[in-house]
Amino acid sequence: MNLPLTKKNILLGVTGGIAAYKSAELVRGLIKKNAVVRVAMTESAARFVTPLTFEVLSQNRVYMDMWEGDPKEIDHVTVAGESDVFIIAPATANTIGKISHGLADNLLTNLFLAFKGPVMICPSMNSNMYLNPAVQENLQILRERNTHLMEPDFGELACGDEGIGRMPDPDNIIQALECLLKKTGELSGKKVMITAGPTREFSDPVRFLSNPSSGKMGYALAEAAVARGAEVTLISGPSQLPKPAGSQVIHTVSADEMNHAVIDHIEGMDIAIMAAAVSDYKPASCQHEKIKKNREKLSMDLELTPDILDGLGKRNNGLFLVGFAAETGDLIENMKDKMLRKNCSLMVGNLVNSSHGGFGSDNNEIVIMGRGNGQVDKLPRMTKRQAAEKIFDRIVEEIKQ
Ligand code: CTP
Repeated sequence: MNLPLTKKNILLGVTGGIAAYKSAELVRGLIKKNAVVRVAMTESAARFVTPLTFEVLSQNRVYMDMWEGDPKEIDHVTVAGESDVFIIAPATANTIGKISHGLADNLLTNLFLAFKGPVMICPSMNSNMYLNPAVQENLQILRERNTHLMEPDFGELACGDEGIGRMPDPDNIIQALECLLKKTGELSGKKVMITAGPTREFSDPVRFLSNPSSGKMGYALAEAAVARGAEVTLISGPSQLPKPAGSQVIHTVSADEMNHAVIDHIEGMDIAIMAAAVSDYKPASCQHEKIKKNREKLSMDLELTPDILDGLGKRNNGLFLVGFAAETGDLIENMKDKMLRKNCSLMVGNLVNSSHGGFGSDNNEIVIMGRGNGQVDKLPRMTKRQAAEKIFDRIVEEIKQ
């Protein structure tokens, strides 16, 4: 079996935190897994552990000084280009601040900007520093750019306090890295379409029918698909969320517009995930002028919108089709019914009437149901990004079968 780390070029960035001593163990562990390791350190990291330690353990030169080496070669561009993955462990608040804002005042931060592959960051610091909103906002910026963040552990910290901020054990980091490398490129060459967010069905120029969907689930799916190497087209209803890096985003407003965008872009897609909360009905007509408050009662004729998912299911052309079911009860029965009725390959369901997460929340408690083997996975509450990873794990598994 081809193990994920064998012969992989790992670039390890070490910044100046007390946990830098654990990075030496990390290098040893990676070498044991037959990876090729090159280390880049900041000057403050070298106050904790000497470059010689890393040089001996990695059997490679350590990169620290921007100004040494052959002037004809631009080290940071060459080294970045030759690496398969870049991991920064430990990552201090200072380095996190710099890389989230594109600052590059040392070799390590230059490497970060020059590197185009998957990046994993292991923040490690005192818990008050870690929880500081400035650090959390910087981490959020990195997350949104598809950087993989490994949450620090909870426990006793170097300062004697107890809290979150410890760098995870090297073995756990290596496991996470193996998982990342296994997934990276898993969907390369695949085209994925995702719908997200609500639709708006206008009754007059200032009023519409809609729902509280934020688009978070669909956007998280787009991020996860990009991270696995897919070419992603995200067709989004109105949403405040930033564009997921690396995807093509098409903005739509009504169900009709979303339907047209889906039909226009579906050719050549391998996977389509319909995560949008599409309005089932729209006002039969949209008034050109604002409807005035000049009567006691007002009723409105509604008509069906096109069912986008159903339309794709009817094409039946080898597309791996994923539907969503947001229900207030009988989740499993409704999911099964929708999956068969709309000819989906996979159905993702969640309850929307309780504390399970759902509309607008950062978390979700989902159930994944497959058509091929009928397997039902009931997952615990997790972030929408984690849920997106689980959905892609299952898609990849089903596609392979
Ligand atoms: N969907 C769609 N177009 C619509 C309505 C729904 O593409 N006009 C898609 C959603 O994106 C979702 C799935 O269909 O993937 C299920 O949506 P849902 O509203 O739960 O199902 P409906 O078929 O509308 O059934 P009901 O509202 O009766 O539960």
